[in-house]
Amino acid sequence: MTRILPVSGPEDPAIAEAAGLLRAGGLVAFPTETVYGLGADGLNPKAVARIYAAKGRPATNPVILHVADAASAQALVSRWSPEAQMLAERFWPGPLTLVLPASDTVPSIVRAGGPSVALRCPAHPVALALIRATGRPLAAPSANRSQHLSPTLAQHVASSLGEAVDLILDGGPTEAGLESTILDLSSGRPCVLRPGPIPPADLEVLVGPVDLWTGAVQAGDRQAAPGMAERHYAPRARLQLVAPGSGLRETLGETSGSVAYVALGTLPPLPPGVRGILLPLDADMVGARLYALLHELDDAGCERIFMERPPEDEAWLAVRDRLRRASAKERP
Ligand code: TXA
Ligand code: MG
Repeated sequence: MTRILPVSGPEDPAIAEAAGLLRAGGLVAFPTETVYGLGADGLNPKAVARIYAAKGRPATNPVILHVADAASAQALVSRWSPEAQMLAERFWPGPLTLVLPASDTVPSIVRAGGPSVALRCPAHPVALALIRATGRPLAAPSANRSQHLSPTLAQHVASSLGEAVDLILDGGPTEAGLESTILDLSSGRPCVLRPGPIPPADLEVLVGPVDLWTGAVQAGDRQAAPGMAERHYAPRARLQLVAPGSGLRETLGETSGSVAYVALGTLPPLPPGVRGILLPLDADMVGARLYALLHELDDAGCERIFMERPPEDEAWLAVRDRLRRASAKERP
C-alpha cells in the first residue's frame, strides 16, 4: 500500500521524511493551493524520469519546477526579465506559472528537450516547507495518470497513481481546485498557455496586453503548449455541456444508465432517475469543487454527466477551458 501521511503544517515531521525521500531520488506527492503535485528532485534527471513513468506521460511534455522564492527561480533561467520580476513580486507565492528561457542548470528531461522552463512558487505552507527542506527545486506535474483528472485530495492521488509514488503528504482538500495559470514570457508578447485562478486581466495590469493561446496552431504560429492536448482533465463518464434548462426532457429522456445533471445557480425539475447536482453560480466555487465532483461521479459509476454551460465572461475562463477539454471527444 502507498503510504499516506497527514501533515498538519510546515513544522510537521512528515516533511523532513519526505524531503529525505526526495533527495534520495524518490517520488512524493504533496498538496499545493491548486491541485496535488507529484514531486521529484528537479535537478536529478533519473528522479524526474520516474515522474514520467509513474504518470505514463509522453516525453514531449515538460514539467514545472516549483521553487520557494523568486531568487531560486532566477538561478534556473538565462534571462529574468522585468516582467518576470513584477509578476513574481505581485503573484508569488501563488497560482501563476512563468515560462522563461532555461539556464543550463535545468536538466533536459524537465524541459522535454525544449529551450524554456516553467517555474512556479506555490502558495501552500506544506509545499513551501517541503521545497525548503529538500533544498532543490521540485519538478511536479499534477499527481494523476496522464490525461486523467487532476487530484484535489490525497485519496485521488492514491487511486490514480497507487504504488508508483513513495509517499503522499495529505494536507486535505486543495483550495483553488484548478491548475495554475501558465504565462509564457519566453518569446514575443506574453501569452497565457493555460487559463487558471489568476485571470488575464490581472496580468495585463502589470505587463500590458497578453495573448490567449487558443489551441489553433497555424503555420508560423508560436509552438503549441506541449501539454495542451485537446482531451485532458477527463472523467471516465461522458461529459456533455448543455444550455441551461432548454430541451432538458428531450436531451435527458433519450439517455439510459446512470445519469447526472449538474446545474449552476438553480436546479430545474429533472426526469425521474436523473441525479441532480446544484453548484453555485460562482466561478471560484465551481473551480474549487469541479474535479472532486467529477471524481465522485466516476467513483459512483456514473456513465453520463450533463452540465450547464457556464457564462461567457472572463471570470469563468479557466472553468470553461477545463470543461471544454473534459467534454472533448476521445481522439481515435
Ligand atoms: O497548478 C499547477 O500548475 C500544478 C501544481 C502541481 O503545481 N501542476 C500542473 O502541472 O498542473 P502539469 O504538468 O499537470 O501541467 C503543467 C503544464 C503542462 O501542460 C506542460 O505542458 C506545461 O505546463 N509546461 C511545462 N513546462 C513548459 C514549458 N517549458 N513551456 C510550455 N509549457 C510548459
Ligand atoms: Mg496535469
